[in-house]
Amino acid sequence: MSVPAAVSMRNINKRFGKKVIANKDVDLDIYHGEILSLLGENGSGKTTLMNMLSGIYAPDSGEIYVDGKQVTIASPKDAYDLSIGMVHQHFKLIDVFTALENIMIGLPKEETEKKCRKEVEDICSKYGFELDLDKKIYDMTVSEKETLEIVKTLHRGAEVLILDEPTAVLTPQEITKLFTVLRNMKNDGKAIVIITHKLNEVMEISDRISVLRKGENVGTVNKEDTSEQELTEMMVGEKITLDIQRDFVEDKAKRLEVKHLTVKNIEDKKVVDDITFDLYSGEILGIAGISGSGQKELLEAIMGLQKCEEGSSVIYNSTAHGVHELVGLSTKEIIQFGLHLAFVPEDRLGMGLVGNMGMTDNVMLKRYRKGKGPFLHRKQPEATAQKIKDELEVVTPALDYPVRRLSGGNVQKILVGREINNKPTVLMTAYAVRGLDINTSYAIYNLLNEQKKKGVAVIYVGEDLDVLLALSDRILVLCGGKMNGLLDGRTATKEEVGYLMTNLKEGE
Ligand SMILES: Nc1ncnc2c1ncn2[C@@H]1O[C@H](COP(=O)(O)OP(=O)(O)O)[C@@H](O)[C@H]1O
Ligand SMILES: [Mg+2]
Repeated sequence: MSVPAAVSMRNINKRFGKKVIANKDVDLDIYHGEILSLLGENGSGKTTLMNMLSGIYAPDSGEIYVDGKQVTIASPKDAYDLSIGMVHQHFKLIDVFTALENIMIGLPKEETEKKCRKEVEDICSKYGFELDLDKKIYDMTVSEKETLEIVKTLHRGAEVLILDEPTAVLTPQEITKLFTVLRNMKNDGKAIVIITHKLNEVMEISDRISVLRKGENVGTVNKEDTSEQELTEMMVGEKITLDIQRDFVEDKAKRLEVKHLTVKNIEDKKVVDDITFDLYSGEILGIAGISGSGQKELLEAIMGLQKCEEGSSVIYNSTAHGVHELVGLSTKEIIQFGLHLAFVPEDRLGMGLVGNMGMTDNVMLKRYRKGKGPFLHRKQPEATAQKIKDELEVVTPALDYPVRRLSGGNVQKILVGREINNKPTVLMTAYAVRGLDINTSYAIYNLLNEQKKKGVAVIYVGEDLDVLLALSDRILVLCGGKMNGLLDGRTATKEEVGYLMTNLKEGE
């Protein structure tokens, strides 16, 4: 007699509106005592599929079985009653409450604080979680919040635990810790699903891997029987090389000399703290750091968008524009030297694109000052817009279709594409591939590399350490606004960068 799967999904279909098929005829089994990775590009339907187990969405058709019995999951409460718990990508915690208070929300009155504390402490020691129950959420790191969400879910009695991209915001050290507790939970018989698109993690943690592509389950494989190459092919449906091209440009010239750059925030805290480095033409300087380590403020300071403290200096030097001290100049003056910043924020439309306008007009927005006469020439912007559309495969019905009606990923491609097409001397990008699928991300890496080969000095602020290590010539590591290391991108290791991201060097 075989043990039924903890959860079985059969012929699951889910559409949004008429056009978007999020899941198509998906079969999936999740067993007790295993870690199943759900792998797939952005938009392949991973979150939607799991949300049908956590009670956020109901399938249009198909069946769900829990321990062999057919069930209907119509709400998160139904999911909990079936011992299914999900930790979402965006945490649902209340900032001003402590960890314990967050766990207690919604619990029955009989559950006293003392009893709950004991139960949670037991869970923590059983699986190896480190959690300060009296810490307020706003004092917590992302990793602590993640831990809290998992512990909360376990406290509610989850036997099936679904984690939606838990490692996206963690450092390598934190990921190692998370994986240790996941293994402990698995050995205790829990069924664990981890959603991720990082292949190295999949190979490290999973027993089995199911791959979604365009809403369909294209296959489930045992970790032992597969390879990163095979998984990539399953994910993207065609052979792509994982290597990011990294040319060595011989003729380098010093483009920026950043010295003692310091920026304070409104609370008088140094968010950029005495940063000193040189930036050369023909190189990609990667900037690594956990989010909020001063990346944004550093780039904004160079662009004249932040007030710099006494002693800060940014010397710009190029044959075309001469030598200038940038600190004290306006952003408008700085842009004229060919410095460009593409910062991809959460709210993409907030940053330099006009939602009601189409691609062509948005490209023109940055170009019109370059025009000689009073007449706007549409031809060139139109060609540029078309080029961006082709190279980055922007999906839009027409070049004049309002960009606010496009999906977030497409808006982002336009934003990055436009800066790249501005013929910069210094190109700074932050989170350029956030939320983009693998193919589009590679298109962007290639564009940055093209810029580098043309002699542009590129700064790349990124979140994915594997990409930073493959793309950058040098890597500057930020930790709490301070510069905590400047490494050779060709020899640096992930552990090294991760360590510098989280541990300030001695004496600092
Ligand atoms: N609430 C929603 N309304 C409309 N479309 C959605 C919604 N949620 C997801 N989608 C679409 O469904 C598809 C699958 O999305 P999702 O499950 O979030 O993918 P993944 O988690 O693999 O990135 C995408 O095309 C996405 O745009
Ligand atoms: Mg998702």
